[in-house]
Amino acid sequence: MTGLGKIAIVGAGNIGGTLAQRVAEMDLGAELMLLDIVEGLPQGKALDIQESAPVLGFSTRVRGSTDLRDVAGSDLVILTAGLARKPGMSRSDLLGRNAQIVRGHAEAVRDHAKQAVVIVVTNPVDVMAYQVREVTGFPRERILAQSGTLDSARFRWFVAEALGVAPRDVVGFTLGTHGDTMVPVLSHCSVNGVPVRRLLPEEKLHAIVERTKKGGGEIVDLLKAGSAYYAPTAAQAEMAKAVAHDEHRLLSCSVLLDGEYGFRDLFLSVPVVVGRKGIERIETVDLTAEERNLLELSARAVTEDLKLLRAIPSA
Ligand code: LAC
Repeated sequence: MTGLGKIAIVGAGNIGGTLAQRVAEMDLGAELMLLDIVEGLPQGKALDIQESAPVLGFSTRVRGSTDLRDVAGSDLVILTAGLARKPGMSRSDLLGRNAQIVRGHAEAVRDHAKQAVVIVVTNPVDVMAYQVREVTGFPRERILAQSGTLDSARFRWFVAEALGVAPRDVVGFTLGTHGDTMVPVLSHCSVNGVPVRRLLPEEKLHAIVERTKKGGGEIVDLLKAGSAYYAPTAAQAEMAKAVAHDEHRLLSCSVLLDGEYGFRDLFLSVPVVVGRKGIERIETVDLTAEERNLLELSARAVTEDLKLLRAIPSA
């Protein structure tokens, strides 16, 4: 299996550091560059990860840097840097500060890694991805954001737990924004093809949908400082692997819509086929009338956040 030449991860916090560990251990690229503004942090985490290579057997060369120009030559850049939520905060509350941070990083990608596929992770992720697209001017195929892969993982776990079945046998996805208006899609959720609606009562399914929507907040409330990073980085690594190994995976990712599902000029999670070039195609699936209405609300929430983004000077 061939991987990529160089992967850069911007931000060496809980997400960036853990993601770097996963990406190195999966041998997704010959070189992995971990970047952060805090001197010593990316270098320290990179060296620590690198020193696990003899034990774990991966070949990726892991380096750390505080110089954003070191994204140069990357085939894949994953933008994770930014503030995380504290209890009581919504992802949208992070918008102003994170927009400034992400703008600088997007400029570095535009200037030094022109050919890269970009995965955006910083919250509010659907809005940050929009900004990355504006700043870089990259074709929409090369910018994808994590929302659906993480939210789908939570959704699938809650179904697996309720049924006592292997988590990997639960197939399903969420659509829409990475926020309380996301849409866990019950009509396409199954246990290896057996519709979940035949296996669980409606009230249990409703509770699972509601818990999924607030899945990130549940972890923030438990941790009290910072937000989730194990499931998020697993989902990000799933996307990175789809790119690195040209897997043509059908994953729910946030992408710039241009008429698909009736929306235009905003990022929302929808099922897409992901490979080496980024997004190969967007799949349109049938939705129930209720799911369709909920997706509309999700799009409205993103549109409101985009207005906030446009109101930020220089954002
Ligand atoms: C979450 C954050 C990463 O959902 O948005 O856990």
